Amino acid sequence: MCGIVGAISKDRNILPILITGLKNLEYRGYDSAGIAYLRNNKVTIKKITGKVSKLESKLNKNDNSHLGIAHTRWATHGKANAINAHPHRYKHITIVHNGIIENFKELKDMLEKENYIFKSSTDSEVAAALLNYYYEKYNDIEKTIKEFMNKAIGSYAIGMIVDNDKDNLYAIKKESPLIIGISNNTIMLSSDIRAILKYTNKYYILDDYEYAKINYNNAIIKNKTGKQINKELKEYKNEDTTNSKGKYKHFMLKEIMEQKETILKTALPFIEDGINSLLIMPDLTKYKEIAIVGCGTAYHAGLVAKYLFTELTNTRCNVYLASEYRYQNNFLSKDTLTIFISQSGETADTIAAIKLVKSKGCPTLGIINVEESSMTFLVDKCLYTKAGSEIAVASTKAYTAQVTILSLLVLSHAYRNKNISKEKVLEIIDEFKNIKTLITPLLNNKEIYLAIAKDIYKEEDIFYIGRGLDYALSMEGALKLKEISYIHSESYAAGELKHGTISLIRKNTPVLCSATNERLNAKTISNLKEVLARGAKVYLITDEKIKDDNITIINIKKTSDFIKSLLVIIPYQLIAYYTAALRGTDIDKPKNLAKSVTVE
Ligand code: M6R
Repeated sequence: MCGIVGAISKDRNILPILITGLKNLEYRGYDSAGIAYLRNNKVTIKKITGKVSKLESKLNKNDNSHLGIAHTRWATHGKANAINAHPHRYKHITIVHNGIIENFKELKDMLEKENYIFKSSTDSEVAAALLNYYYEKYNDIEKTIKEFMNKAIGSYAIGMIVDNDKDNLYAIKKESPLIIGISNNTIMLSSDIRAILKYTNKYYILDDYEYAKINYNNAIIKNKTGKQINKELKEYKNEDTTNSKGKYKHFMLKEIMEQKETILKTALPFIEDGINSLLIMPDLTKYKEIAIVGCGTAYHAGLVAKYLFTELTNTRCNVYLASEYRYQNNFLSKDTLTIFISQSGETADTIAAIKLVKSKGCPTLGIINVEESSMTFLVDKCLYTKAGSEIAVASTKAYTAQVTILSLLVLSHAYRNKNISKEKVLEIIDEFKNIKTLITPLLNNKEIYLAIAKDIYKEEDIFYIGRGLDYALSMEGALKLKEISYIHSESYAAGELKHGTISLIRKNTPVLCSATNERLNAKTISNLKEVLARGAKVYLITDEKIKDDNITIINIKKTSDFIKSLLVIIPYQLIAYYTAALRGTDIDKPKNLAKSVTVE
């Protein structure tokens, strides 16, 4: 994972560009950071453990430079410390690297035989050394880069400074994203155009096995054979994604609250003109089966859709974790539509899964939040969630936007399939139009979430249970809690507890549950009684009128199945938030995580 940025300018200090860029790239990792820049014609390197703000404080106020590269890291090879942080320098070559050099061990052995000595445990230092090796061998930068591409296996977006060529920066790309931003007398490279939007919205996208020689007024881009490529200069036209927390203490809380707008914004193109708008959704009737692929929260959104497809349209649907899917036998067929869900559009496992399905000539559909992200260029068709930029690592508004698109996709399919009457469809569309009214009381119910958080925040094990759709929601609830509070939380199908897990229920073990399925509620309540009998503290989200003095109950309105997951998840998100807040964790940037998981 990691984010890289670089800049070269004729007339401006590039240090603020690098620091701003890194801050905007922290979603890709934030365990250590570093910068290399020219000062008095020498490469100066500064590296720290921790976040970019710490690196910023290490820079001298008077420092000024016209050329530099910088990096924010999510450790893959070697601990998160200053030695392993980038930039890595080997003699004449200084690089920042995003990606993984898979054959680094073999390359390291080869270089050690040539008397190369390594200071860090990283694959990236090996990449710097390999580039230096070819540079010393050929004294030709382009040949060096081409040899590097032939030899290094894996993924890389590299920004490079070469000691004897201080008028240029170099960029090399395979599999990890890399763009070149163009502005007057200043050219930048970055993992993501959004990181440098303050300076330019014009950019080139590098493709795999391309490299660029960049000076302050132009970027010459070539492919692996050395042929110059004329790239289309793109213009990023979307709203500015520079963000502030506004009145909220954390981005996560702000993003949870924004759901009263983002769900409707996502739904609107498909509901504003009733059935006509709904039928903009792709026609799925030609497919025998739907497969859904994603990671983490996106996978959980897929589980909601599986329930809706199978229960309400009688269409076979399976959901897969991308990291498993890419390596298993999927019996791919042209009759199966594979839907890929992703907030970032950059998740490595999901990208690999898309490539796999495409390589077999099978149809793909993306449900993606970030426009112009890598996945949007890979899938046959894309439906955009309109969650806006999600900064907190824990996904909230992107999840409800994914569930919204999926629910409307299923609804359109149910209508085309004649599983549902026109009148019923119009009622459900009205529910979507009314989502703000349904969701706002739940968002404002702070007292109860805080009370529950106070009850559970000192616990080390918490269980989430449910049946059917509620089981899918319990998985997302448990993930939210564990990733930001660091409390061990697991979800189980309610009926599964007594097959083993119930042995873990002790006095006061918290069990959170949702029960919103008329057909299954009585059974779920029986399961709650079983854990209550063993001393558990029980919290229930339900649309039934249940009264039980031993259970803390959060009531939600009764709605159709297409809407209820959007309601149930709000208490789960806010309980996780307030619990983490009481534990004093770094809610927006939880330890060991990154917003965008660009390595497998
Ligand atoms: O960007 P993506 O939606 O592809 O990311 C998938 C997961 O990494 C992501 O949902 C992750 O599980 C979140 N941190 C969960 O809150």
